[in-house]
Amino acid sequence: MQLRKQAPSAALLATFLALPQLTSAFYLPGVAPTSYKPNEKVPLYVNTIKPIASDSDALLHSTLSFDYYLPLFGFCEPPGGAQNVDESLGSILFGDRIKTSPFDLKMGQNETCKRLCDGPRQYSGKMAAFTNSKIQQGYSLNWLIDGLPAGQEVVDQMTNVQFYSPGFLMGGEKPEGQIAFNNHYNIYVEYHEVGGNKDQRRVVGARVHPESKKYDSEHPVEECQTEIPPVHLNDKDPNGHTDVEFTYSVFWIKSNTAWATRWDKYLHVYDPKIHWFSLVNSAVIVAFLVLMVMSVLIRALKKDFARYNRLDQIHLDDFSGNEIEDGVQEDSGWKLVHGDVFRTPAHPLLLSVLLGNGAQLFVMTGFTIAFALLGFLSPSNRGSLGTIMILLYTILGAVGGYVSSRIYKSLNGEKWKLNIVLTPLLVPGIVFATFFFLNLFLWAKQSSGAVPVGTMLVIICIWFIISVPLSFLGSWLGFRANQIEAPVRTNQIPRQIPPMTTTYLKPLPSTLLVGILPFGAIFVELYFIMNSIWFNRIYYMFGFLFLCYGLMIITCAAVTVLLVYMLLCSENYHWQWRAFLAAGMSAGYIFLNAIVLWITKLSMSSVAGTVLYLGYSLLISFLAFILTGSIGYFASWWFVRKIYSSIKID
Ligand SMILES: *[C@@H]1O[C@H](CO)[C@@H](O)[C@H](O)[C@H]1NC(C)=O
Repeated sequence: MQLRKQAPSAALLATFLALPQLTSAFYLPGVAPTSYKPNEKVPLYVNTIKPIASDSDALLHSTLSFDYYLPLFGFCEPPGGAQNVDESLGSILFGDRIKTSPFDLKMGQNETCKRLCDGPRQYSGKMAAFTNSKIQQGYSLNWLIDGLPAGQEVVDQMTNVQFYSPGFLMGGEKPEGQIAFNNHYNIYVEYHEVGGNKDQRRVVGARVHPESKKYDSEHPVEECQTEIPPVHLNDKDPNGHTDVEFTYSVFWIKSNTAWATRWDKYLHVYDPKIHWFSLVNSAVIVAFLVLMVMSVLIRALKKDFARYNRLDQIHLDDFSGNEIEDGVQEDSGWKLVHGDVFRTPAHPLLLSVLLGNGAQLFVMTGFTIAFALLGFLSPSNRGSLGTIMILLYTILGAVGGYVSSRIYKSLNGEKWKLNIVLTPLLVPGIVFATFFFLNLFLWAKQSSGAVPVGTMLVIICIWFIISVPLSFLGSWLGFRANQIEAPVRTNQIPRQIPPMTTTYLKPLPSTLLVGILPFGAIFVELYFIMNSIWFNRIYYMFGFLFLCYGLMIITCAAVTVLLVYMLLCSENYHWQWRAFLAAGMSAGYIFLNAIVLWITKLSMSSVAGTVLYLGYSLLISFLAFILTGSIGYFASWWFVRKIYSSIKID
């Protein structure tokens, strides 16, 4: 299939794609450009040390990140100790730990072979073993120079495009098995003079080329720019130690890149053609599928309506006792279950709580993607994504409470107090408990990814002081509102459900079938999201994400409605949980996808890394389950109300 054939959808896609670019010159306050005079100090901050997979096919060996100044790494702190740099809540939650460093960068001042620490650092056997193992696992240093990540120049193998990938390796493994430790950094900083004004220089690019150099009497530090054999940390002898001298050189390069576009070099799309192609393909397939489902459904419904109305007619003539055979025809179809279709399902409390939280997540995701499309979440604004999501989720507690209580009331629920309390506590409680449990692992491993106790307390406070009361308020409003009346009356005695004869309508096969389609709609995008979460890549393709989210909602709704229609036709009126679970199954596939990635792309060297990866995947899948399940439920609910209010019931 060729891309050209799909020109109309491609044009639509291009519009969405262009949206973030149009607004990329727009920045929030706090990330305004800083101009430096010549010789003015430019800050170099250090972030956590975490593993990277340098190209798209490499294996990732760990998911744990560590503090830059963990004593086992032996990096030296600035005089007076390292200071924390203020960060946003989202940034802390997503694992940033930004600190000051001893590097001394002066705008426009080239310098070579500067010593980093006062005197050489001593690596004991234990430190050497730890550091070497991290080098083998592909750990990298993450620096920020004037807010820009110091990157490595990488060439995409497929497209031959050069770009900067954030982070650079801590060391390298030689083919002979020797592990070289990078102790010399060549720092290349690109700067731009605003309007040619020498006194207004802005940092527009940062690159580090690390090297390993064994300095001794033969090769003094001053010769750092020449070829020197690499330094190996001795981890064989526990009592031995290796002396390492850290050095760096700074080169300032004038550049024509404007400040507003300085991120472009970092925002590289791996295999853009594949991305485009698969997205357009899946969009076309999904659109085709939905149209097919809809047309089949509408035709079937039209026939049903015509038949039912004709039967009504016959009923009226029936008093004479004629045409009894035609009455037999009525013994099929969804009209028969009109007295049961709005019967309260099993566990109405749990269903309403899940649906309330699902609505909350749905609105939050929508707003987040909208903010992202408007360019509010530019990568220069670290952690803005996390912060906005937390804020939105907190405020939207009111939506969750309202939806949950209204549904519960319409399901004739009686334990309304329990409903009010469980709505803001159950799902967030499960999420927080998992989060806390995973953090225990991180604490035990001394990983910096562990969320500090203070931040945990802040989250709990936000939750209890803002989210829970808002949810109570929403619940109160929901219970006060009028009950949503069902369009048909429910009979006193439940109807018997005939045994299911069609295999694919049985609970398990139908759930598996329905779930796979919404998953198919987001599959491509999921790959990129996973990459940005685990492989340290910047995610910014919110245009694609927006489109995929829309596709997923449409697919989810369409296939669930079809399932519910078929269930009702087979006179099974237990549609509520079936709709929720079947649509939610797409999250099951998301988890399956994470497991496949784990088997093929990750080779974890520690139990903690594995637990962390699976734990977070499970958490994401759980939230996706509630989200897609609710989408499926609400679509079916709308559909069922629609069809039963369009027929006459005598
Ligand atoms: C600094 O080094 C860079 C790279 O070697 C060079 O292009 C630039 O001209 C140097 N600047 C000065 C002021 O020497």
